Amino acid sequence: MSAAPLIIVAGARPNFVKVAPLLRELATRALPHLLVHTGQHYDHAMSGVFFQQLAIREPDVHLEVGSGSHATQTAAIMVAFERYVLGLPQAPRGVVVVGDVNSTMACALVATKLHLRVAHVEAGLRSRDREMPEEVNRIVTDAIADLLLVSEPDGMTNLAAEGHAPRARYVGNVMIDSLVAQLPAAHALDVPGRFGVTGAPYVVVTLHRPSNVDSAERLAALVGLLRDLARLVTVVFPVHPRTRQRLSDHGFLTTLAAEPRIRITEPLGYVEFLGLLESARVVVSDSGGIQEETTFLGVPCVTLRTTTERPVTISAGTNRLAGDDLERALHVVREILAAPMPSPAHIDGWDGEAARRVVDVLAREWA
Ligand code: UD1
Repeated sequence: MSAAPLIIVAGARPNFVKVAPLLRELATRALPHLLVHTGQHYDHAMSGVFFQQLAIREPDVHLEVGSGSHATQTAAIMVAFERYVLGLPQAPRGVVVVGDVNSTMACALVATKLHLRVAHVEAGLRSRDREMPEEVNRIVTDAIADLLLVSEPDGMTNLAAEGHAPRARYVGNVMIDSLVAQLPAAHALDVPGRFGVTGAPYVVVTLHRPSNVDSAERLAALVGLLRDLARLVTVVFPVHPRTRQRLSDHGFLTTLAAEPRIRITEPLGYVEFLGLLESARVVVSDSGGIQEETTFLGVPCVTLRTTTERPVTISAGTNRLAGDDLERALHVVREILAAPMPSPAHIDGWDGEAARRVVDVLAREWA
């Protein structure tokens, strides 16, 4: 590649884990690049700590868009990103977006309309549930990006079905690169010790999807599920800011804090969270990425959603969808507690080397 820089976009918590190995690989090969932080996530707990722990360098620009409705946030990212790109002294070589958050789609749209090449890392995932904002972000980004860099086998099938096969390349999972790199540090921290659960079975819970936390009725049912779970095992619950706000609005935070076997905590840093996941007996979550991390680690996961865009986690035998039915979720957790732990799954390209393959493709195809 010649001197024109690549632009790497990161906006929200799950993005940071994905850009870290890419930035490391670009730096190793001395390939010029610019890091754009859109500011979709801005708290230390949601952003700063990830930069520290994953040794992500200072962004070249921080667009500081902050929170808002989808239209407000997406529009703010688009306006600020376009202004930034147009103000650069030299046209970039192309723009790399990762994952499925609003920043991913917003920057892909801006770049395409500026006639810049776009690469989408983690392309091809489909839940087929368009009520999930991330699904819309995925479909739009894959429709317009020039290079679709795919993390799991179903992604290739999905892209082929949509007529995108010529642009798709299988590279594996960059999020697993971060996991592989940080697991020794995570293990050394003895995170279970901080929650008083070393050697004991515990369940890790994370919840942040609007479909779970935005309605008072659903949230009340989830609080009921956590109390039922706490009768079986200790519950460790790092609370996303959106969820904390909703729990607090309805007075549920005090209910949960009063439960002796529920440990409520702020969102954890990446390394701490990994240390917690690694030794968990089971995870109950509505996250996308955690389904993959638990599959790699061989930790059972119960996903509180009706669909998944990551079906390989189901076929690997670690992840089960509980749908909307929280009775079923509790039943599945009971089954898991009575069964032996599953084995870690070996999925093609989930090996700590995905960023190298991404940069190989970029160097070759955008030479
Ligand atoms: C976003 C992503 C989601 C990803 C999740 C991980 C989209 C559409 N959603 O959802 O795919 O799984 O990040 O966390 O892009 N807030 C803070 N501090 C922050 C960021 C947010 O307090 O640093 C609060 C704000 O009140 C905000 C709320 O959390 O309104 C939700 O944040 P937002 O960025 O809208 O979406 P997430 O639910 O975090």
